Formats: sequence, C-alpha cells, structure tokens
Amino acid sequence: MDLSSFRLIRLSDDHNILPFDCGDTDLSDFIINDSKDYLKKLLAVTYLLEHGGITAAFFCVSNDRIAIEDMDSKSQFYKWIMNKMPDGKKYKSYPAVKIGRMAVDSSMQGQRLGTILLDYIKEFFITNNKTGCMFITVDAYSQSLKFYEQNGFKYLCPAKDKEKNVTTRLMYYDLRELTV
Ligand SMILES: CC(C)(COP(=O)(O)OP(=O)(O)OC[C@H]1O[C@@H](n2cnc3c(N)ncnc32)[C@H](O)[C@@H]1OP(=O)(O)O)[C@@H](O)C(=O)NCCC(=O)NCCS
Repeated sequence: MDLSSFRLIRLSDDHNILPFDCGDTDLSDFIINDSKDYLKKLLAVTYLLEHGGITAAFFCVSNDRIAIEDMDSKSQFYKWIMNKMPDGKKYKSYPAVKIGRMAVDSSMQGQRLGTILLDYIKEFFITNNKTGCMFITVDAYSQSLKFYEQNGFKYLCPAKDKEKNVTTRLMYYDLRELTV
C-alpha cells in the first residue's frame, strides 16, 4: 500500500478531527467526542492516520502492566513469566502499553492499514524507549481476535476469559520478540 498521501499525527487539543466511521458506534464516537478529553486528563494519547479528507484509522495508547491478578493463580503467573524469563519471579507485575482503542474507517478496512499501525506501535515502543515496556496489551473485541492473532498477539488467560463469558479477550504481544 502506498502511504505517501497518508499523514500520521498525534492528536492535540486544537486539532480539527476529520470524519471517521468504522461501523462500530462506540469506537467511532470515541474519536469524535472523547479522545481530546482523554488527552487532557492524561488517560490516553490518540494517534490519527489521515487521508483524503477523512480519518482513515486511529489508535490510542496508555500505560499498563501485566500482573499476577490478571491470571487465575500466582503459580500460573509465575509459570507464564518464567517461560519468558528464568528470573521472572522477581516481580509481581511487568510493564506494558495498552492499545485502548484502535479502528480503521469502513472504507479502508481489509487493506492492511491495521497491520501497518500495529507494526508502527511495536516499533514505537522498542525504539529509543523512554521507559521500560515489555508487552503490548489489548482488550480485543470478538470480531477482531483473528486480526490480533495474525499479528502475533496471544491470549493471556484463555480459561479465565471463558469462565467470565466476556465480550472482549485480553491479549498481549511480547515486544522482546523484536529485540532478540
Ligand atoms: C479490526 C481492524 C482494526 C483491522 O484492521 P484492517 O486494516 O481492516 O486489517 P488488516 O487488513 O491489516 O487485516 C490483517 C488480517 O486480519 C484479519 N482481519 C482483519 N479484520 C478482520 C475481521 N473483521 N474479521 C476477521 N478477520 C479480520 C484478516 O484475516 C487479515 O488477514 P489477511 O489479509 O491475511 O486476510 C479493522 O477492521 C476495524 O477497525 N474493525 C472495526 C473496529 C474493531 O473491531 N476494532 C478493534 C477493536 S479491539
């Protein structure tokens, strides 16, 4: 995909947000009505990809962590982290960044823009990182599970998700896959 006519910008308070509709009311409303408020309250920073007079896609990110309480039990957490780091038992949580929301305008879905943005986020948090950040997390909607799976995301606690009969699944991407 030729991205030369696309512009990626960090949302600022005075930015004029271009029209956006991804087919999901909650996600589409967020960018128009709530994203600036989240920015002001330091809850999340939103990035917009603009093209041809519309917002082609957006995502917002916040600090997060993966902690013992995200799992069914302490032993499950330690087994999971020690698989990744033999000395993983040192801490009860590990730093992450959460993709709070992410969506592509309906007119541009299925053209790999979502994948390009995920690659950008992965790169962004391992290049000259200002803070330690080991994982990307996302509460993925059921219709987007395959998208995240195809981009290397894994389920943190499949058994717990099933029990709760939830509408979103907690998934993560291990950023150290890109650094070793
Ligand atoms: C989910 C979303 C962000 C994906 O972005 P996209 O640019 O359309 O996705 P891509 O073109 O990069 O797709 C990559 C892969 O994910 C899969 N995929 C993407 N969207 C999918 C969907 N809705 N259902 C099933 N699989 C999907 C495709 O199989 C694709 O692989 P392929 O090209 O080999 O077939 C976008 O479709 C969207 O905004 N959907 C509506 C809102 C939403 O669900 N947001 C996620 C909230 S957590």
